[in-house]
Amino acid sequence: MNHILGFSNYATSLVDKNRNYDQYNPDNFKFVYDKDFLDKDDFARLSDELLNYEEDLKNSLDSRGDILRYNLPIKSEFVKDIIKKYESKIRQLTKNRSVYLSKNFPIELRKYTRGCFMSPHKDTQIYKLPQYECVFTISNTTDSVTKIEGLDISTIPNSILIVKAEGVLHEVTKVGGGERNFLKFIFTETDDFLRN
Ligand SMILES: [Fe+2]
Repeated sequence: MNHILGFSNYATSLVDKNRNYDQYNPDNFKFVYDKDFLDKDDFARLSDELLNYEEDLKNSLDSRGDILRYNLPIKSEFVKDIIKKYESKIRQLTKNRSVYLSKNFPIELRKYTRGCFMSPHKDTQIYKLPQYECVFTISNTTDSVTKIEGLDISTIPNSILIVKAEGVLHEVTKVGGGERNFLKFIFTETDDFLRN
């Protein structure tokens, strides 16, 4: 069992690998946490590629009232191609057959170090249909957790957390020490923004 799925009908359920995932019904989807997302080689290649952005990432502090983190939009066909390769897996996880990697919203590389956090929030819908915000963890040595639906998730390397916009409240607790690196990208059913 390496899979946690959240529905609106019941708070959280642990779902095992044998259960039928072919019931594509995105209506009740709230979030999912899945481990061992990429295969080993892809994970290694991706981690390697992202080292190229370390310097720029250090200069990308994003500080607002309710957020403190490093956030760097990246334009990398290499990274895009790896993510796209896992499109069908994301469709399974979200139970939505029509989602794809957003064409007009950047993939972002993020880092949390000591003091970084994100206050409780719902992801704001940016497209005409609610998007799926994907957090793919590269490394995590922090004591921080993602709180969602009564769970405290310490995201591990090669895991993905997918949250539907305007769905459930979630937060990232303040980092006391260590470092967490992850990619944030969006899967969507439309490229039309809600507001232009
Ligand atoms: Fe969020």
